[in-house]
Amino acid sequence: MNDESDPARPAGGNGGAGAGNGGAGAAGDSAPRAPTGTHDVLWPESTRWETFVAGFAAQVERAGFGLALTPVFEDVRVFRRGIGEGSDLVGKEMYEFSDRGGRRLALRPEGTAPIVRAYVQHRPPLPYKAWYATPSFRYERPQAGRYRQHHQVGVEALGPADPDLDVEVVALADGFFRSLGLARYSLVVNSMGDDRCRPAYVQVLRAVLAERRDQLCDEHAERFDANPLRVLDCKREGCRAVTADVPRLADHLCDDCRAHFDRVQEGLTALGVPFELDHRLVRGFDYYTRTTFEFAASALDAAQNAIGGGGRYDRLVEMLGGPPTPGIGFGIGIERALLACDAEGAFPVDPPPLDVFVVDVAGGRSARDVTAQLRSAGLRAERAYDGRSMRAQLKAADRSGARMALIVGPGELDSGTVTLRPLRGGEQRSVPRDAVLESVRAELDGAPLESGVGT
Ligand code: HAM
Repeated sequence: MNDESDPARPAGGNGGAGAGNGGAGAAGDSAPRAPTGTHDVLWPESTRWETFVAGFAAQVERAGFGLALTPVFEDVRVFRRGIGEGSDLVGKEMYEFSDRGGRRLALRPEGTAPIVRAYVQHRPPLPYKAWYATPSFRYERPQAGRYRQHHQVGVEALGPADPDLDVEVVALADGFFRSLGLARYSLVVNSMGDDRCRPAYVQVLRAVLAERRDQLCDEHAERFDANPLRVLDCKREGCRAVTADVPRLADHLCDDCRAHFDRVQEGLTALGVPFELDHRLVRGFDYYTRTTFEFAASALDAAQNAIGGGGRYDRLVEMLGGPPTPGIGFGIGIERALLACDAEGAFPVDPPPLDVFVVDVAGGRSARDVTAQLRSAGLRAERAYDGRSMRAQLKAADRSGARMALIVGPGELDSGTVTLRPLRGGEQRSVPRDAVLESVRAELDGAPLESGVGT
């Protein structure tokens, strides 16, 4: 199940992101494996994922976001229109297919466009604040921290254009990272301007890049003309050097975008969210306007150190056929955030311990009934199956980590009792079968009841 040699294998650590996979298909007729770039998250590692998502849900729900579930595949136009035909995500990485009815569909590469599509379709009242936890699919070159199926938690807030909402959203992501115990990460912020100021800036940038064309990376020397902003995002050395001192969009903002950006910075400072400005942060999606932001973990490799990112997308609702409606949100990569936690020794989560392990060597009916009774009373109870020996069942009880074993043998069956054996120190004793729940509760509370049946 695990492939230790696979560079794409998510972190092990104290739970990491899961059991990685080196690739399906290469092994001829041997057992099939999860596809390249995907990974399984098995129990008990998945406990950490559950806690991660539950913690996220609790925090964003306090801020008025509600869970939204949308299909994992969408009409391909949802992504083409919003993210942009020329983006790597749509042009190179999307899992597109035709279904048996000939519809062009795509597995979602991200979570924003589907929420906006759903908003346009159903028009819930504004402001509409949604959160999600979802797999996302991108045909990328798999490596540590980069998968073909990764998972995101995220929020989208539709309606207000208020810069204080930007502050709220960014602070929410920051607060969530802090709540995981992460400390070694940074936040960069930029403004993409809007339809009024960005086109003029793009002209300026295009002209500068044309002069320096021979220094750009091969891809952008060819293609910078179509979307010069993408060059700012390029991680290759040539483009990095060229764009270090190009004119900045932040210096070409119109008055409204300037005021918006100033207010965002003021708000982040007021809320004590540390950030830096990064004029090259354009984030590869066409839908962004005004505020963009990204969180990077310093413990991760620079190429995959973004643990979360987002921004404002005030035109996306229109792009998907709705009325002008501003929006802003972020997505956090669960695998990457957990890798960052591993690197910092943060967010250790152990599965909650079992309360009781029921051992039955008298035919199994007591195990069946007592386990059911304990579980419906809200306790965590497990049992052995298949009529195994007392020795084997006790061993399983020990291994389970349960606080106590309840043992039923022929003697207990005859006398209507159960033997309660604490597994972490303490005296074994006999308790009446019909007081088993009270006895277990008392033992969990640390005050064993006097059974009166002898010990
Ligand atoms: P994104 O930056 O493409 O933004 O993805 C969000 C996060 O998902 C990244 O910061 C990273 O942690 C994680 N991620 C992305 N691709 C991969 C991958 N191949 N393997 C592992 N983790 C990955 C969005 O998707 C936008 N929808 C965010 C947003 C929401 N903007 C506005 N609202």
